[in-house]
Amino acid sequence: MRIDIITVLPQLLEGPLNHSIVKRAREKGLVEIHIHDLRDFSQNKHRRVDDYAFGGDAGMVLSIEPIHRAISHLTSQREYDEIIYTSPDGSRFDQLEANRLVLAGNLIILCGHYKGIDQRIRDHLVTREISIGDYVLTGGELAAAVITDSVIRLLPGAISDETSALSDSFQDGLLAPPVYTRPADYKGWKVPDILLSGHAAKIDRWKHEQSLERTRHLRPDLLEGKED
Ligand code: ADE
Repeated sequence: MRIDIITVLPQLLEGPLNHSIVKRAREKGLVEIHIHDLRDFSQNKHRRVDDYAFGGDAGMVLSIEPIHRAISHLTSQREYDEIIYTSPDGSRFDQLEANRLVLAGNLIILCGHYKGIDQRIRDHLVTREISIGDYVLTGGELAAAVITDSVIRLLPGAISDETSALSDSFQDGLLAPPVYTRPADYKGWKVPDILLSGHAAKIDRWKHEQSLERTRHLRPDLLEGKED
């Protein structure tokens, strides 16, 4: 898999995408991540990539030219499955979308900034607009990092225990059950007996019940239409 991220703030992405599981997935060659500084595609001598909005609105808009040049540069080299634009008015990102994106070969993620990008890029080049929640970030970089992280951990081989990503919260539409580790008794706070029983089938049933219970309690919206 290959992910190309176009941004005006490459530094903001380097930290989150150079640690832990994502770093290891890159080192193992499971994914290539390329971060492109939009200013490198500016033909302005000051490397300017924004301009005033037509219509007198306050705030700057990312210009069409450098973005078009950046995207054309990439698409002339290979085909992309999606050109994603991160924006608060995109469709809400969730686990289903992460599962869908991990099946892609090549993705471009274009990070929004300032007041946004020239609408013509959205109309003619972007294939998918994604928001990571109903709040406004300073730019789309953190959203791009969230999307990239959640997709990469699903790549086969990214997580050492293959089943681990499948048992994440949301993978079966439920929150994950509680987890415990040693000691089994910490100053009288005990791990549930069932987990120490060694009965695999009973443990699985308990975990499922706990998942259901947690979801009912913490995120009843996830069960809407699924329970009578
Ligand atoms: N850019 C600014 N806010 C955002 C959000 N909530 N999701 C995605 N991109 C954004």
